[in-house]
Amino acid sequence: MIMTVTNGRPGTAMQSFTHFLSNQEIESVVDFVRLEFMKNRAINTRYHTAENGWPRHERYIDAYPFALGDLPLDTPDQELTKSQKAGKARFLSSCISCHDRAKVNNEGAIWEPRAVSFPRSNYSHRGSLTSTKLDGMSGATPYAVHDIAPVTNELNMQERNGERLFQKNCAFCHGADGTGKNWIGSFLEPHPRNLTNATFMMSMPRSRLKERIKNGIPYSSMPAWKGVLTDREIESIIAYISRVFHQISKSDDG
Ligand code: HEC
Ligand code: HEC
Repeated sequence: MIMTVTNGRPGTAMQSFTHFLSNQEIESVVDFVRLEFMKNRAINTRYHTAENGWPRHERYIDAYPFALGDLPLDTPDQELTKSQKAGKARFLSSCISCHDRAKVNNEGAIWEPRAVSFPRSNYSHRGSLTSTKLDGMSGATPYAVHDIAPVTNELNMQERNGERLFQKNCAFCHGADGTGKNWIGSFLEPHPRNLTNATFMMSMPRSRLKERIKNGIPYSSMPAWKGVLTDREIESIIAYISRVFHQISKSDDG
């Protein structure tokens, strides 16, 4: 800095000050700039000033520690005082757009191992079942094969009916092949149950399966079907899945 003030910067408006200031004066003005503006960060170096359109910014002081990174944003709420909690709420609503998350203790996973977004527009999860052609990306995914229903010729009337009902109502989440490894299924948390899984299917008596389908599963996306499908229709679906996907428990009570 002393050299710049002494010699100026060629090609810029910064000229040499040797005509006006002694070496000692140059040194003291540089010391002043360094102490006042760079070290003590004088008020006029701040961004949130009235002149910049931020009058009385100190009223948001409870959010400062989060903006300055003095208090990590993921500090558990129990460890925060009442005013720090208010500051965190304020920071999250009014400051984070510019200040990002300032500082966190735990960076978390950089890349989620599971899908966390939703299918992009125009994606057809049933592309292979309808005549709609899969686009290049959908066709290349490992999901598409799970949207193809098993071909079975030996179904009785009830199972045939169940096939139609399953493919219409359940395949969207469980996959046309019942595995739940289709596109939508892989986005749901928890994943739809794999209805081809031997351990699961063999543990399910007909009555329990029916009860689950009728009433759905709380805290999951498995809907209750009792208002949509009749008992007979649900029985047809069970007949179909236990014939085509995997046999269910024989120890039946109903
Ligand atoms: C429009 C963008 C923007 C918003 C919104 C914003 N800030 Fe800032 N803030 C800045 C910038 C730019 C700086 C200067 C950063 C630097 O000098 O490195 C800054 C600096 C600060 C500083 C350091 C002292 C200063 O004034 O330079 C504090 C404290 C601060 N912000 C708090 C907050 C709080 C609290 C909020 C929410 C109420 C907030 N900021 C909202 C852009 C913003
Ligand atoms: C919107 C998505 C969705 C649809 C549609 C859907 N399911 Fe599910 N299903 C799920 C999810 C998710 C689970 C896993 C819930 C869990 O494990 O907590 C599940 C679980 C199940 C289970 C396992 C029950 C158990 O006890 O673990 C069966 C059986 C089942 N579904 C059958 C069906 C049938 C039959 C249909 C159509 C009538 C259907 N599902 C439609 C999402 C769906």
